[in-house]
Amino acid sequence: MTEPVHLAETRAAYDTVAVDYAALVTAKLPELPLDRAPLGAFAELARAAGGRVADIGCGRGHVTAHLAALGVDAFGVDLSPRMVALARRAYPGLCFEVGSMTALDLPDGRLGGVLSWWSIVHLPRELLPRVFAEFHRVLAPGGHTLLGFHGGDDEHVRRDRAYGHPVSLDVHFARPEGITGLLAAAGLVVTATMWQAPGEGRPAGGVPVRPQALRWPRSYGLVHNLGAAGLSNRLFLGRRQGGGRRGPATKEGQSCDSPSPRS
Ligand SMILES: C[S@@+](CC[C@H](N)C(=O)[O-])C[C@H]1O[C@@H](n2cnc3c(N)ncnc32)[C@H](O)[C@@H]1O
Repeated sequence: MTEPVHLAETRAAYDTVAVDYAALVTAKLPELPLDRAPLGAFAELARAAGGRVADIGCGRGHVTAHLAALGVDAFGVDLSPRMVALARRAYPGLCFEVGSMTALDLPDGRLGGVLSWWSIVHLPRELLPRVFAEFHRVLAPGGHTLLGFHGGDDEHVRRDRAYGHPVSLDVHFARPEGITGLLAAAGLVVTATMWQAPGEGRPAGGVPVRPQALRWPRSYGLVHNLGAAGLSNRLFLGRRQGGGRRGPATKEGQSCDSPSPRS
């Protein structure tokens, strides 16, 4: 099957910028309490849910490692082989695999958590239902999702440079209520949201996010794979609804799905 152009472009772009991107973002997390706060809540919830946690679009793996340091049995998946190579080198005790969130090579219903930390931002909106169906499929009932993405008016920008390199890379901005609806349709119910003002936390020198154009500069979602409990508020932490598969057919195997060497 022919690969969609946007996946090939995104992979090529991150393969190109991998080293410079990794150097920029890895050093930043200790300076970003507003990033660490939702990650900490997510880690606690996912630990309580049980099961492993997949960091989808993990990049160089520093957030995967942060979750691991918080006691989460975390592993990473990324579209870019060079990103995965950097992650494996940086964190040899953790597991990282090449893969796409549009078709995860993970079995149904096992994970306690799925993190997508600024990785859905390169997906065209029409693919998000499929991606969220995949998140729902791989989560155990009661598992949690945390999304980080750029808020905006469902627009996208096409970058021809990023992190000092020529690339072809689309960055998509999403209306948070639209994301809420897509998550709900996939069986993932938003339990909490967090907004960050422009300039709070993203590294300078990367992909410009045109904050002047954004009503919602950054959003986080903590999403619960819901049982019968219903909505209490609006965090983009999502939880999977019980029962019924909504995603594609079962995927078998992937070494990251086996128990971690640490457990
Ligand atoms: C903005 S970076 C964020 C990386 C990391 N989560 C972080 O916070 O530093 C986006 C990452 O998502 C990955 N990515 C983009 N599309 C993807 C897809 N369809 N499946 C898996 N990873 C993807 C890219 O390769 C890149 O590493």
